[in-house]
Amino acid sequence: MNAVGQPISRVDGRLKVAGGARYTADIPLAGAAHASIVYSTIANGRTVAIDTAAAEKAPGVLVVLTHENMPRMNPVPWSHLRPQGQTYLPLQDDRIHYAGQPMALVVAATLDQATYAGTLIKASYETHSPTVFDLRTAKEDAVEPPQRMWPLSSLVGDADKAIADAAVKIERTYTMPDRHHNQMEPHATLAVWDDDGTLTLYDSTQMVVGTRKLASLVLGVPEEKINVVCEFLGGGFGGKSWSWPHTLLAALAAKVVNRPVRVQLTRAQMYSMVGHQAATVQTIALGADRDGRLSGIRHDSVNPTSVFDDYVEYAALASRHLWRASGGISTSHRVVHVNRNSPVVLRAPMEAQGHFALESAMDELAYATGVDPVELRLRNDTDTDPYSGRPFSTRALRECLTKGAARFGWDKRTPEPRSMRDGRYLIGQGVAAAIFTHWRWPGKARVTLNGDGSALVEAAAHDIGTGTYTVMTQVAADALGMAPDRVTVRLGDTRLPESHPAIGSATVPNATAAVMLAARAARDKAVELALSGRDAPFAGAAPEDVIVAESRLALTKTNLNITYAELLARNGLSSLVGDGHYDPVEEVNGPKAIFSFSAVFAEVRVDPDLGLVRLNRFVGAYDAGRIINPKTARSQAIGGIIWGVGQALLEQSETDPASGQFVNRNYSGYLVATNADIPELDVLFVGGFDEEASPLGAKGLGELTAVSVAPAIANAVYHATGKRIRDLPITVERLL
Ligand code: MOS
Repeated sequence: MNAVGQPISRVDGRLKVAGGARYTADIPLAGAAHASIVYSTIANGRTVAIDTAAAEKAPGVLVVLTHENMPRMNPVPWSHLRPQGQTYLPLQDDRIHYAGQPMALVVAATLDQATYAGTLIKASYETHSPTVFDLRTAKEDAVEPPQRMWPLSSLVGDADKAIADAAVKIERTYTMPDRHHNQMEPHATLAVWDDDGTLTLYDSTQMVVGTRKLASLVLGVPEEKINVVCEFLGGGFGGKSWSWPHTLLAALAAKVVNRPVRVQLTRAQMYSMVGHQAATVQTIALGADRDGRLSGIRHDSVNPTSVFDDYVEYAALASRHLWRASGGISTSHRVVHVNRNSPVVLRAPMEAQGHFALESAMDELAYATGVDPVELRLRNDTDTDPYSGRPFSTRALRECLTKGAARFGWDKRTPEPRSMRDGRYLIGQGVAAAIFTHWRWPGKARVTLNGDGSALVEAAAHDIGTGTYTVMTQVAADALGMAPDRVTVRLGDTRLPESHPAIGSATVPNATAAVMLAARAARDKAVELALSGRDAPFAGAAPEDVIVAESRLALTKTNLNITYAELLARNGLSSLVGDGHYDPVEEVNGPKAIFSFSAVFAEVRVDPDLGLVRLNRFVGAYDAGRIINPKTARSQAIGGIIWGVGQALLEQSETDPASGQFVNRNYSGYLVATNADIPELDVLFVGGFDEEASPLGAKGLGELTAVSVAPAIANAVYHATGKRIRDLPITVERLL
């Protein structure tokens, strides 16, 4: 029986629940010192003086590092594709660009000693008032940054004319606040220098290979002399997909004290030492005929970034690709430079913000035209990517909409706002669709057949909690003709074959495809041995006549067979190695446009007196191509929906305009959705094998599931109450 397609439980599940999975900060290392980061309380200015005398004399302190005595680092120019989250390098000069910027690093024998000594440091500042992001003036303040990952603006046809000429027009502005990743596992680094000058960084990261690259550039150490290790992550959500100052600080501090150094960010430091999702202000204009057929879409987005980097949140991306508009589509992105740390991707970057605006506006169009919101989307469906003009490889959006609607019972919905009730509660039902970028990245993998008949899969890829260990086990098992319990997977170490970071929901289609190729290579080598090795059991036969199942090679139409273990022993081999290298052309250069799709349906219950919104039920229908493991895939979808509920109803970071600080820097001040917020979630997969997307037929899934949850809920809230909320999150204050 094939392992792929089976709902296999996580192969690392037992290890995790039994405490055997080691997260970065838990890695025991004798003699490791602890570092505590002291940070600025102002957001703009200069350190005039920093007094470390008392801290240096405090118990256990090994060294106090500030910009005055920190070893120098090599600056690296910034790019969305570079491995650093921000170009600002810590403790290199006296300038202060944001609140929470590292000011000093105290290294001591214990964490308590380091933290206590940090409180003894006294700094005096030259303070300037910070520039902060203001949603109300963002559009006037915005500038066009240099072009980065994608074109900043796009124009197909003449969108403005199409909208001006349209029978029905909608123009609205939508806003979303800053959000933070808030992973359960805080960022941590353990830096160890060997006597031969090799640096090993145990780092809580979604990209061991990129972290090695950045450490090499900044520290001036050749990549061959750096190992980066991360076997388990307690949440990433994109926040760990680039490198941040604390990792560099740990590496240099370990060199200074000539001992391993461990740095673990506090919960409050997670708001300023690493990235966050930038707020967006988005304006959407739609033009359509009276039947709701779109003629024009214009989508303009502005986001804040730091004073030193140009992070662009490509929120208008969705509008380039999702719906057909006969007259044209235009999009643009601009930024506002403010005193904050650099933003970064956060689960379903670009799309999750962009779809809130686009799919809310589509709901407004549905009400303006009187067309049912599901039907409106079916009418604007397209087989061709409006932006590139290429056909979609696969696009089961129609099935997502119709099968999702059937499962949800959409036909029982009465469209009039406030027309559905449950006792004193208002009931609302909303729908939203989504399109999600598919990434094609190269990756390598190695599969070793061992003499005992087991197999080892190795790649410098990651399992960020999504189930990569498990799906790679399944894929390798099938390619080898072996039971999954004979396969072990090792990930998260730069000494393994180079692979891509765990971002963009790309690991199943890409890194896992490399595993399949490596497993096939190992299997092919075994077949070759059976045909022409020592005492070859199938001598003279053709490779295609050999089948492998249950770790046994068999020659078809005969009784001849031999196990992998017997075959290796017969040839005097302790192991047999297969290498895989998956190297696809980039999606933009391929013949087809490749995206994942979804349609999601939300039902809310609103208390008309208190303005409280509760999610009653939710149906998500997804086209992510072929599903490798329905159980881990469903877990991804549940997690994505919950993530989206947080975006819709709870999450918002507040900045104090006077100090420029994020003020709600903990789990009590920054609300995330928890079990009590979540009803039963219904998930269905409607996609099929997509041969363009991956040799495995799979498209990206994880982040797709976080997209369009917020507009589905906002649309449901409108249906329940008649009140359109265009600013997230949908709080009681906004609804009453
Ligand atoms: Mo995802 S934000 O691309 O890790």
